[in-house]
Formats: sequence, C-alpha cells, structure tokens
Amino acid sequence: MSRHLSPLLQLLLLFVFAIFCVLCYRTWLAPEYCGTTNFTCGTVGPKDNVPTYLEAEYEQGKTIFRNNCAACHAGDMRTYLTGPPLGGSEERWAEHGGKEALYAFTRNSQEMINAGTNTRANQLWEEWAPTVMNSFLNLTDEELDALTIYIDEVHTYHSRGQDP
Ligand code: HEC
Repeated sequence: MSRHLSPLLQLLLLFVFAIFCVLCYRTWLAPEYCGTTNFTCGTVGPKDNVPTYLEAEYEQGKTIFRNNCAACHAGDMRTYLTGPPLGGSEERWAEHGGKEALYAFTRNSQEMINAGTNTRANQLWEEWAPTVMNSFLNLTDEELDALTIYIDEVHTYHSRGQDP
C-alpha cells in the first residue's frame, strides 16, 4: 500500500482548500456581500444593482462606513451588533424629524439624547444605554447622503426574499 497520496488526490485537496479560502474571504473580508448567517453566498453583490449614476456615491459611502461605522454596525445592515442595524433608519426617523434629525443624531447622538426632545433618540437610548455611539461632527450632508445610498443598497440586497 502506498504511503503517499496520489497526485490526483493532492490536486483535489488543493482545489477544495482554494474554494474554502475564497468563501472565507467573501464572508469575513467582504461582509456586505454575505449575511452573517449565510456562509456560502453567490458571486453577485449589492454593487451589481447600483445604477451607474450612483456608483461614485456608493463607493464613497462604503469607504465612510468601513472606516467609521463597521466596528459597531453590521455590514449586512440587518444584524444586531454593538449597535442596531442601519438598514431602514430613514423610515424609522421619518416621523421623528426626518433626514435632518437622523443626520444630527449621526453627528452627535449624545447631544440629542441628552436634550431628550426626540422620541426616536430617547427610544434608542432606552434600548442601547449605556453603549455610547461615537460622534462624527465632521461628516458633511454630502457624505451622509453617500452613506445613506450605500446602506440602502446593501440593505435592499440582503432583504430580498427575506423578512424585513
Ligand atoms: C462605538 C460604536 C458605534 C459606532 C462606531 C457607530 N455607531 Fe451608530 N449607534 C451605536 C449605538 C450603540 C447606537 C444606539 C443608540 C445609542 O446607544 O446611542 C447607534 C445608533 C445609530 C443610529 C440610529 C439607528 C436607528 O435605528 O434609528 C444610526 C443612524 C447610526 N447609529 C449611524 C451610525 C453611522 C452612520 C456611523 C458611522 C459614521 C455609526 N453609527 C458609528 C454605536 C455606534
């Protein structure tokens, strides 16, 4: 009996390992492509649905999200992490001051929470205290618009055919 694996078997093992590496990469390093409960995911990502005229903003939003928000907010925009999922934030703020209040909260959540006048901010603090969100005083409206586009696209992608 040979103590060595046949070359064909070695090649097969190498192939399986390569596939495993690709899946790991897509799941851990490119989280917006994969729901956290979905280990094997397709080759189509949310970016493929982004209309050409929004591509620059999508990319800008992605960079801002990864650098500032991804530490606490899940990359699939659906999962609870250190902070709540960001998908659908606009709708949740619609009756509580809309986009203006949402952007003000993102820039300085503690200020709004301490003021105590916005019911959505109060509600969030009730649920998440004592976890404090960072302040992002320097984010411009334009940057927050780009973030919103990115969040929406990724959220829509992950919500297709699933519960909201
Ligand atoms: C240190 C962790 C942390 C970071 C970093 C962070 N957040 Fe948050 N975020 C939270 C927590 C916790 C809450 C819940 C409210 C609270 O405790 O202040 C929250 C709440 C929110 C909400 C309200 C969501 C809702 O359902 O109404 C929005 C919007 C939001 N964050 C956006 C952002 C954006 C955009 C960034 C990046 C620019 C960011 N956050 C970075 C922790 C964080």
